[in-house]
Amino acid sequence: MLLDHFKSNSTLFNIFCACLTVWLIKHLINFINRLRKLPSGPWGLPIVGYLPFIKKHAYIQMTELAKKYGPVFSFKCGQCDVVVINEVKAIEEAFKNDHLLARPNTTFIPGFKRASSLLEMSGEPWKQQRRVALTILRNVGFGKLTLEEKVKQEINMFIDSLKSANGAAVDFGEVIKLSVANNISILLFGHGFEYTGSVINNIEYFSKFMFMPSIKFFVFLAAQFNSELKKVTSNQKELEEKITVEVIKHKEKKATHEIEDYIDGYLQEMDKQKDSNTSFNMDTLRRNTADFYAAGADTTTLVLNHMMLYLITYPEYQQKIREEIKQTIGFERQPDYEDRTSMPFTMAFIYETLRIATITPLNLHRRSAQDTKVMNYFIPKDSIVIFNFWAVHRDPNLWNDPHLFKPERFLNDDGTKAVKSPNLIPFSGGKRVCPGANFAMTELFLYLVSILQNFQVSAPKGDKISHEVVYAFNRILKKPLKVHFHILSL
Ligand code: HEM
Repeated sequence: MLLDHFKSNSTLFNIFCACLTVWLIKHLINFINRLRKLPSGPWGLPIVGYLPFIKKHAYIQMTELAKKYGPVFSFKCGQCDVVVINEVKAIEEAFKNDHLLARPNTTFIPGFKRASSLLEMSGEPWKQQRRVALTILRNVGFGKLTLEEKVKQEINMFIDSLKSANGAAVDFGEVIKLSVANNISILLFGHGFEYTGSVINNIEYFSKFMFMPSIKFFVFLAAQFNSELKKVTSNQKELEEKITVEVIKHKEKKATHEIEDYIDGYLQEMDKQKDSNTSFNMDTLRRNTADFYAAGADTTTLVLNHMMLYLITYPEYQQKIREEIKQTIGFERQPDYEDRTSMPFTMAFIYETLRIATITPLNLHRRSAQDTKVMNYFIPKDSIVIFNFWAVHRDPNLWNDPHLFKPERFLNDDGTKAVKSPNLIPFSGGKRVCPGANFAMTELFLYLVSILQNFQVSAPKGDKISHEVVYAFNRILKKPLKVHFHILSL
């Protein structure tokens, strides 16, 4: 019909063509202008951009690209501009930039509603959710002795279970995962929680697709035919269903009871805000809880796995830490987080593990909410912005022999103090810094000291210790970590 109209009226057709040409030229000029202003970087293909060239260990590739294009470079992925910031000074500047606090407009998990959790939100709703979450978690125990006591009880049970293995090789990754998950569960649900799946699975596809959130829908479609990918979506669904059951139980508790955990606090906040139009609702509660659970359990577990790997690789460091235990805590009393101040080598060992493992080598994506600049590099509105922590933690200008595991680098000259370098940024920084950093550090210290207070750890005889990792958002040890726990005879 429209075509017939055009055929019979050539003036109308000409006007249409002229409009289309103007529109195309305008878009082309905008496109070229934006491209000219963006930091330089590698070229890709039409439509998909650089996506087909992204390698499995993308963080290593990004670090290499920075050597060629400079500390801040960019590339296209579909319609997204991706800006990667690789140098510590530039990242520190970006931490302070309020225009870089937003997240991409898509979800991190294929097939899930976008931006409905605090981890994925931007702007005012994110501020509200984060403020309330931190207040609740502080009130129910974050940074308080009561919570530390509960973590210590969990560790006690964990140590007992290792003792009952009677020296048989234990799959450390499997047992530590459950113990760490119990700690975060206490904070969220007020008690342990039965869930053995992992939300962020060992799926290497993610290392690529995370660069192009706009195609997450297609990843979701692909997930229907790929059993590994399907597991991520079904694990997330299962976790959220279990959380829903928890929420219902919490609602059934007496309205007057004290706030004991995150769900209690959130329900109370929802009640307070029920008449105003806010972001506090059941869906967000479920998603926030699931995110806290995944962000809190998976990450700490991964670092503890890497820590165990370095303990069995370098038994001499076990001895050094045990020497500090002997001088400060002894072998009877359970450690307190406070003991860290008199255990410099132990803290240096933890810092070095966080540096060398860099379990999250490329930060959770940020988005520029406005046109902005970092170190005079222009970042247009709605670019995906990635901080490359790997590049910082392996920068030879910041660390001697960055590829070697050397805890001593975090000690002062006479070895009496652990010095946390400002170049160590595993928890990110600025207003969107990981809210669980202190809790994670407490756990790392208490698990490490408790294990070495009770056991000498080693790989099974004849086993080749593997440092191989796979990359799927996080750097995950490729092979199960089999460990012998020999009870210390003192
Ligand atoms: C060693 C363990 C951990 C590491 C290495 C780690 C690292 C990170 C990183 C790099 C971010 C991104 C921050 C940004 O966007 O700039 C993050 C965010 C987050 N982390 Fe952690 N984290 C750890 C443990 C925890 C724990 C124990 C919890 C909870 C108790 C937690 C909860 C979160 C949450 C909720 C966010 C999102 C914050 C937001 O978007 O505002 N993390 N974490």
